[in-house]
Amino acid sequence: MKAVLCKEFGGPETLVVEEVSDLSAGKGQVRIDVKACAVNFPDALMIQNMYQFKPPLPFSPGGEVAGVVSELGEGVSGINIGDRVIGSCGWGGMAEQVVVDAPRIIPIPDEMPFDEAAAFIMTYGTSHHALKDRANIQPGESLLVLGAAGGVGLAAVELGKAMGAKVIAAASSEEKVQVAKDRGAESGFVYPMQPLDRDQQKALSSQIKELTDGQGADVVYDPVGGDYCEPALRATNWEGRFLIVGFPAGIAKVPMNLALLKGCQIIGVFWGAFTAREPERNKANIAELMDLYKAGKIKPYVSSTYSFDQAGAGIQELMDRKAKGKVVITVSD
Ligand SMILES: NC(=O)c1ccc[n+]([C@@H]2O[C@H](COP(=O)([O-])OP(=O)(O)OC[C@H]3O[C@@H](n4cnc5c(N)ncnc54)[C@H](OP(=O)(O)O)[C@@H]3O)[C@@H](O)[C@H]2O)c1
Repeated sequence: MKAVLCKEFGGPETLVVEEVSDLSAGKGQVRIDVKACAVNFPDALMIQNMYQFKPPLPFSPGGEVAGVVSELGEGVSGINIGDRVIGSCGWGGMAEQVVVDAPRIIPIPDEMPFDEAAAFIMTYGTSHHALKDRANIQPGESLLVLGAAGGVGLAAVELGKAMGAKVIAAASSEEKVQVAKDRGAESGFVYPMQPLDRDQQKALSSQIKELTDGQGADVVYDPVGGDYCEPALRATNWEGRFLIVGFPAGIAKVPMNLALLKGCQIIGVFWGAFTAREPERNKANIAELMDLYKAGKIKPYVSSTYSFDQAGAGIQELMDRKAKGKVVITVSD
């Protein structure tokens, strides 16, 4: 089979496509013939050896795929060869075959195309867990989403709306804010590129307060970090919840007294660990997400697709901050 390989740590331009041995499903595993593989920010970090999970070299990036089951390992039941599925593999997805532990396989509805399926579970899984389990968001509450046109950001916009929140989208361009408004944000604004000076940070806080009747946001969803984090925390409502999701703009250091002054909670979100520690709750969450998809309330926005040979360019699009919604690698027809 063919695979995109990271043979040495570096940027997307260092990835190569090579012929490698076919895979076989071991005990409790399932082999998927991959049709599509989504690009996520962790792929960019992993190939640079900057992510918390560090697969040994050489490896294929790609943490989630959609495809067709082609082999069942010993002891696997409830899944059949030929089933259309999503597989959460962590890495290894940008290849014609991937082997996944059976509990990390999700059957998909017939009407769900492979590109949307590949782009579905990490973003919606993360944002659903964040808003429901971690923030306990309530109908009518205001939800500020930073990086609102990114992968997890746009999923938070759609899910926030589906959960009855008033969604405010913040992003680095008008085009990105519009993408979020088209998918359910009630209002939105453009923030500047980093670095933000003191005045720009104050302006960011003021914009959030203006859009929340001077109160600040009840829930802040922050998958961006960097200079955007502190102004958003300063514009969090009394007893608000500030969700820490990711740091493409850098890991912010914030004055802890802000949490005291607002009586608010600063909450870590780690969806991957949640799925491993609480598989039954995760299963129920996935069932809810599939129902929302079938009801047309959520739908992955696949804004660009790349062929297998161009996988590095797909990862580069995220690193260049150009991606809107999801970028997907088409592995086979
Ligand atoms: N906690 C969890 O369980 C969990 C799960 C999945 C992903 N994540 C993390 O969430 C973050 C977002 O992941 P994603 O897959 O949604 O990525 P993405 O699609 O690339 O979205 C990230 C957004 O961050 C903003 N951004 C700000 N500075 C940036 C920079 N220097 N480079 C790139 N983007 C920048 C961009 O929006 P603007 O241009 O509008 O600012 C971009 O749309 C990553 O850090 C990822 O590791 C966490």
